[in-house]
Amino acid sequence: MARILLTEDEDSLRLMTRTVLEIAGHQVFAYPNGQLALDDFERVEPDLVVSDISMPVLDGFGLLDAVRKLNLGAVVPFLFLTARSEREDVRLARTLGVDDYLFKPYDADELIEAVRVRLQRRRAIELFESRQAHIQTITMLANLVEARDAYTRGHVERVQLLAMELGNALGWPPEAMVILEYGSLLHDVGKLSVPDSILNKPSELTPDEFAIMRSHPVIGAKILEDIVHLRAAIPYIRSHHERWDGTGYPDGLAEYDIPVQGRLMAIVDVFDALTSERSYHKNLPVRQVLQALSDGAGKHFDPEMVKIFVALQLAKLQDA
Ligand SMILES: [Fe+2]
Repeated sequence: MARILLTEDEDSLRLMTRTVLEIAGHQVFAYPNGQLALDDFERVEPDLVVSDISMPVLDGFGLLDAVRKLNLGAVVPFLFLTARSEREDVRLARTLGVDDYLFKPYDADELIEAVRVRLQRRRAIELFESRQAHIQTITMLANLVEARDAYTRGHVERVQLLAMELGNALGWPPEAMVILEYGSLLHDVGKLSVPDSILNKPSELTPDEFAIMRSHPVIGAKILEDIVHLRAAIPYIRSHHERWDGTGYPDGLAEYDIPVQGRLMAIVDVFDALTSERSYHKNLPVRQVLQALSDGAGKHFDPEMVKIFVALQLAKLQDA
């Protein structure tokens, strides 16, 4: 159901159009001229406008022009109802930013279809825009982590790619893949709270410093707890340092008690750490790292999952 603002000066046509839209399940706010509709626009907050062109006081062009200048009206779909004799007006309507027009006389199906298409497109744009904003926020957070940690440059992006590959190979459904996409980017977000002197210390950490370093999964999970649209990613953040044999942190979970997201992250995180330049180990040849991963099956890693990951990476080596 959408909120539709309708203007039409001809009473019988206004009533008919209103009825058609209401039967289609929409809530209709109807006005005999553009000015009355405009006065009510910000109260109604319509999802779509259906407007006649020639009307007294304020015509359809005037209404469209005024609506486009309102904050709420800048992108609202706008549909003109126009007589065939007004065909020339269509050109003007286009330049003012009209989305569509129907020629009178139109039938009920035509009207309902035009409204449906416009609403659907509007919703798709809204979803896309909120997704874009979402990804930008996450990327900003992930970049903040990377900028501070000299040894992880490029790490989060590579890990995201590897995690997506593994998720796909495991046949995860699209909903899970969406969360994986940002969960993997954010897995180390808790490092924002680790001081530079510890994060980038060239020598070995003291036990106290090590404890602070190891707090990053819990702190990362806390950071995301209050952000409703990121909360689903928490298992990636909290559980990526758990180990299959129960010797990991922060919760010391074992085997299938470790969330599947954490088991996946552990594999790709270690793989990337070992294959890229880090403070404590020079990058090792990929085959040697894959052997080390296989050796960790049932100790550090979920044995089934690591087998799939290793096979995937070996196949890539062969293709190269
Ligand atoms: Fe980590």
